[in-house]
Amino acid sequence: MTAPANANRCEPCVIIVFGATGDLAKRKIFPALHALHRRGFLHPATPIVGVSRRPMSDAELLASVHIGEGEGDADGLRAFAQSVRCIVFDHTEATLPGFVAAVDELASERGAGAARAAYFALPADAFEPTAALLVKGGFFHDDGWRRLCFEKPFGHDLASARELNAKITRHFDESSIYRIDHYLGKELVRNLMVMRFANPLFGQIWNSEFIDHVQVTIAETLGAEGRAGYYEKAGAVRDMLQNHLMHVLALAAMEAPKALDADSVRDAMVEVLRKMVPPVRGDFVLGQFGPGEVGGKPVPGYREEPGVDPSSLTETFVAVRACIDNPRWQGVPFFLRTGKRMGKKLAEANIVLRAQPGCLFRADRAVEGEPGPNVISIRIQPNEGISVEFTVKAPGEGLRLETAVMEHCHHCVYGLNTAEAYEILLHEFLVGDQTLFTRWDFVEASWRWVDALTAARGCEAAAFPNYVAGTSGPAEAEALLGDGRDWLVSRDILS
Ligand code: BG6
Repeated sequence: MTAPANANRCEPCVIIVFGATGDLAKRKIFPALHALHRRGFLHPATPIVGVSRRPMSDAELLASVHIGEGEGDADGLRAFAQSVRCIVFDHTEATLPGFVAAVDELASERGAGAARAAYFALPADAFEPTAALLVKGGFFHDDGWRRLCFEKPFGHDLASARELNAKITRHFDESSIYRIDHYLGKELVRNLMVMRFANPLFGQIWNSEFIDHVQVTIAETLGAEGRAGYYEKAGAVRDMLQNHLMHVLALAAMEAPKALDADSVRDAMVEVLRKMVPPVRGDFVLGQFGPGEVGGKPVPGYREEPGVDPSSLTETFVAVRACIDNPRWQGVPFFLRTGKRMGKKLAEANIVLRAQPGCLFRADRAVEGEPGPNVISIRIQPNEGISVEFTVKAPGEGLRLETAVMEHCHHCVYGLNTAEAYEILLHEFLVGDQTLFTRWDFVEASWRWVDALTAARGCEAAAFPNYVAGTSGPAEAEALLGDGRDWLVSRDILS
């Protein structure tokens, strides 16, 4: 059954997923492509090629993909299966002509034309050799567009990212390069711009006059999950801070872009990073989890996880105070933290407002309770939404103060079935909109700042492990906030 044409339908092309047998492709990319197919967003002439290094049939590839129960009817699944083809390619010059010919043949059989969308779900060191091979083999055609989507991390530090970028841009323009960070596809991350720039309620107070500080937390309950080979080299700083946290920070802190086109938005985002003061010792806390309990179940420490060096010095937690040296944010610290094996999985930004000057209620003995801070919370996940905490009078005699919460429950209004981040981003990739993809200058500026943190590391790791799995991280992370502040978790009143 062919899905009805709709306004979001992409032009025909061949979608090629390198690394099709990897975890990311199975868990995220193919399910997202299936969702786009089901919604009629993929042109019926568009084949999806999964590239496998080892012999594998179309059916085996499809069987390995995680498409959940109830996601699409049998006809839809059959139609999706018909558009998926597994092509074996061992990434060598010897087999290159055969691979290119097989893709071209498939394209002409389906009427897909000359456009090619290549997704590199590969380790970063395989990006350039694979891209160079494709150029050499005549994989891309002059009469069709070419787009390449690269998974994070893009490089390991500033020097390696520069080297990688220089090699890739020898063959491709920035306009063909899509560096993906799936946090930019999350609904509430995308909402930040609308919230700030469409509402005077928020827009007018979004500056150092009213905001005391900002916290962004991405906490996970999982550990290294069989990815020790990658994670041992990355750690929380490279895996999460350099990309997901920096993007949320940039969207929360940027000036209004001149317009909504990809370059204007990305200009505004990178400008924030350029004004970030390089972190020094004392601006950050690193941690690594030891054994503990998560969700009532015992879990091993990081060093006991499969594939992890038993004396590993890799951090699984980082909290950092970031300062932005521009007029809007003078004196307003941004606290960013992320960790594995913490007590609860959540991602949110909390904007904490300054206290009302000379507050009438604070010093008065007749008043029970104290006015709490106004906090604007953007809950990225779970239970997506935006809430505002403020002080009210509790009913009854006397004057008792309490905290109330105004809530926009995004998931109650729009349901839990809104598109997944990868689905949004793959669609943007296929229609050629780069707004939600990381431009090179952002990658460069984020590595520059992260490299300063890395260079400022001392012997923190000697104290690893320094937090118990299932907790909120090392105790020192509390002290980082200073001035009597606490790490906040939004009050999710509806769930
Ligand atoms: C990935 C990291 O980019 O993001 C993982 O490599 C992490 O280590 C994941 O678990 C978190 O994504 P999400 O969407 O579950 O918050």
